[in-house]
Amino acid sequence: MNIPFIPSIPVKIFLMNQEKKRILTGDRPTGPLHIGHYVGSLQNRVKLQDEYETYILLADVQALTDNFERPEILRANMREVVLDYLAVGLDPQKCAFVVQSLVPEIAELTVYYLNLVTLVRLQRNPTVKTEIAQKFGGEVPAGFVCYPVSQAADITAFNAHLVPVGDDQDPMIEQTREIVARFNRLYGETLVVPDKLHSPVARLPGTDGGAKMGKSLDNAIYLRDDEATVNKKVMAMFTDPNRLRGIEPGNVEGNPVFVYHDAFNPDRERVAEMKEMYRQGGVGPDGKKPLLGDVQVKRELAAALNAFLEPIRTRREELARDESFVRDVLRAGTARGRERARQTMDAVRTAMKIDYFG
Ligand code: TRP
Repeated sequence: MNIPFIPSIPVKIFLMNQEKKRILTGDRPTGPLHIGHYVGSLQNRVKLQDEYETYILLADVQALTDNFERPEILRANMREVVLDYLAVGLDPQKCAFVVQSLVPEIAELTVYYLNLVTLVRLQRNPTVKTEIAQKFGGEVPAGFVCYPVSQAADITAFNAHLVPVGDDQDPMIEQTREIVARFNRLYGETLVVPDKLHSPVARLPGTDGGAKMGKSLDNAIYLRDDEATVNKKVMAMFTDPNRLRGIEPGNVEGNPVFVYHDAFNPDRERVAEMKEMYRQGGVGPDGKKPLLGDVQVKRELAAALNAFLEPIRTRREELARDESFVRDVLRAGTARGRERARQTMDAVRTAMKIDYFG
């Protein structure tokens, strides 16, 4: 595959592209990306990268809010996440991959925004609430409670119009919109009120049937998983918990195996047929074996997933061979991102009338 070498794109050319609307989205670089990331957000980014000026944040500062005791995780995963981006088809000519900690304007904006939100409002954020219960209990660090504010800074630093995310991020976007509205009311129209963009499948359940796929939950299929790993994970997947034998009628709604079929199997007709047979239950033509057992549904799912992942794996391997490529892409993307954030910072300081020396 021919991968264009781009890191030397002049920053100015990128900035001249002012008529395009902007996308900002990001991921915490705490592990490789999984098919849930793909369905929830990556596929929208790939689709929209031609139309929008796209910034993709490697949110290492945010990742530190619950990994501050093991910062080495970030160094180990930054490269993996960028390889995942490139492998699914995000084009570094069109997207700036930006390292969050190298854009100090985001930290600066966070400090100003912290005044525009109450502690009670932060503690009510449903995502944060769940995460506090899961990860911290009573001893939650202030930095963690406040991470939605820094996410508002992420989005507005690039003055983004659109944020493609999974629905678990809704509370963050909502909070961002509130902060922006408050800022604009207080200091004059300065910041864009961002909209979120969901995929048709906004959230993929875990292989264990849990509501969300996640690294720490050990229920994820990664974009870089090889064929044998995918087969193994799919065969171990949860299905309809109430269907104890293959001849019983089964439920397809919310059944993770069918949710994945919907998301990844391009043969819609076959999927519809399988759903019908699964719902119906009973025995097949030989009068003994189930009409459609879980094993068959899983086999076909593993095949569909592997067909989807194969080109991604190949591309990933090719890109990984060049040691410096990812680093160059990150360096160039971060420079572009920083330039954009500087413009926002200037506008913010002017609006707040703290641009003391003009
Ligand atoms: N909170 C997001 C996640 O956990 C990652 C993220 C950080 C993000 N900053 C962002 C997403 C800005 C959208 C916009 O996946």
